[in-house]
Amino acid sequence: MLTPVTSSRPFLYLTRLLPEPVLAALRAEYAFVSEPLDRAPTTDECLRGFAQADAVICTLADPVTGELLAAAPRLKIVANYAVGYNNIDLAAAARHGIIVTNTPDVLTDATADLTWALMLAVARRVIEGDRWARSGTWPGWAPTQLLGTDVTGKTLGIIGMGRIGQAVALRAQGFRMPVLYSSRRPCSSPFGSATWMHRPLEEVLTQADFISLHVPLSDTTRHLIGARELAMMKPTAFLLNTSRGPVIDEAALLAALRQQTIAGAGLDVYEREPLIAQGLEALPNVVLLPHLGSATQQARIKMGMLCVENIAAVLGGRPPLNPVSLKD
Ligand code: DGY
Repeated sequence: MLTPVTSSRPFLYLTRLLPEPVLAALRAEYAFVSEPLDRAPTTDECLRGFAQADAVICTLADPVTGELLAAAPRLKIVANYAVGYNNIDLAAAARHGIIVTNTPDVLTDATADLTWALMLAVARRVIEGDRWARSGTWPGWAPTQLLGTDVTGKTLGIIGMGRIGQAVALRAQGFRMPVLYSSRRPCSSPFGSATWMHRPLEEVLTQADFISLHVPLSDTTRHLIGARELAMMKPTAFLLNTSRGPVIDEAALLAALRQQTIAGAGLDVYEREPLIAQGLEALPNVVLLPHLGSATQQARIKMGMLCVENIAAVLGGRPPLNPVSLKD
């Protein structure tokens, strides 16, 4: 249902339902092009929304194409409800003079925490244990049941040492884990230079016991981890991904897990979401989550509030707080 374009307030198109406090803040200032839905919009719904909006809030699962942006004559800002913005055609946005913003910082801790949840779950077989405990077939404690792998004291490898990579590394201190990281730029550890060590990618892959990916998705990071890189990992090592699915060649990962050339994987993101490579679900040495990195009430409200602030700034003629551009 479309709102007639007669409101004196700016028009906002939300591609999805957002947490209630965010909706309340938005309703106070803007006229909604249509009521937000708790599902992905169709291409037609998106086209209609973009066509009428002064501002759009979209999610990482909504492709914002050149076609959509070309059909948006009033649009001033696309506020992406995510820190990653690989879903947006930034070149087209720049051509149309449309500002794009994202939501950094406010989801860093939530995503780092979830990375650790995946690491501990896969190493300590938490999901298998939970299923068994619920099944009514657990016979009671035994010395050789569901033995996992130590996490404390192992070497953590981090690929991509931005905000989230560093937040994951900070937590490693409590587990007495040295961190090897590969990143464009070195960064310093608050715990001293012997705790975080800047190394070439190959060294991280060959030395680390847990390898966690925290790079943005771009042409250079697509399939950064393929058959060759997986073959470099120790057979006892685990791979974790809370960044973007296409950073891993999922078919190569499935093969490595099946052949047990690596010990296991913890995945929150997938190459073709919401599809997950067939076969992964059958493997006991994999923990699969449905892209929950930022999924805490607190983080999701803060992400929404950042979108609110960015839109208010741009529609008010001020610079946005979190602009992103092609050179980022
Ligand atoms: C992001 O913001 O990019 C995260 O993946 C959301 O969960």
